[in-house]
Amino acid sequence: MLRIGALVSGGGTNLQAIIDAISQGSIPDAKIEIVISNSKQAFALERAAKAGIATKIISRKEYASAQQFDLALSGELISRQVDLVLLAGFMAILGPKFFEHFENKVMNIHPALIPAFSGPGFYGLKVHEAVLEYGCKISGASVHFVTAEVDAGPLILQKAVAVQEADTPVQLQKRIMEEAEWQIYPEAVRLFALGKLKVEGRQVSNSSRFKSDNRR
Ligand code: GRF
Repeated sequence: MLRIGALVSGGGTNLQAIIDAISQGSIPDAKIEIVISNSKQAFALERAAKAGIATKIISRKEYASAQQFDLALSGELISRQVDLVLLAGFMAILGPKFFEHFENKVMNIHPALIPAFSGPGFYGLKVHEAVLEYGCKISGASVHFVTAEVDAGPLILQKAVAVQEADTPVQLQKRIMEEAEWQIYPEAVRLFALGKLKVEGRQVSNSSRFKSDNRR
C-alpha cells in the first residue's frame, strides 16, 4: 500500500483528480493518509474531508523560521509513514531540510512545459500571462520530482496543449488543467505506485513506456 501525503493551498482540482483516480482503481493500492494546507481557506480541505481524508493546517506564520516550518511539515508526514508527497497547488517553497527524508519522493505539477515559464515568480495566472505575452503557440503541464530548487527537479511526465489566438490567461489555465494536469498527475502517481519510475540524475525512466516502445 502506497501511503500518500498531499500539500495544498488552494482549490484542489489536482488533488481531486488523484482522489478520483484512487477511488476508481486506476491508481492501485494507494491511500491518501493526510492533506496538509498552509491556509485554512483552501477549498482543497473540503474536498479531502468529503473523501474521508484526514486534514491538518500547518501555517508558516506559526513558526519562527522557514526551517521550522519545513520540519513541522516533514514531521507530520513522517509520523503518518507517508511514502510519497504530492504538492498540489502548494504555494510555499520547501527548503533542503524537508527533502532530507523525502528525496525523489515529492512530486509537483507545474502548469507549463518546464524549463519554459518556470522557477521563482512563475505561479498561478502569472505563468499563463507570460506564455501569452511571449506569443507561444504551445504550452502545457509538467510533473516533476521536487528538489530545493524551484521547478528544477527531474521531469516525470509532460503534456503539450495548443495555445489559441483568442485565449485569455484564465481560458488557457483552464484548458491546460483539463487537457493536461488532471491527466498526467494521476498517471505519474500511478507509475510511482506500480514501482515503474526509475530516477538516475535528471533522467526519469518509466518502464511501461519503454515496453510499448519496444513493441513498435
Ligand atoms: C495548478 O495549476 C498547478 O499546476 C499549480 O497550481 C495550480 C493548482 O490548482 N501548481 P489546484 O489547487 O490543483 O486546483
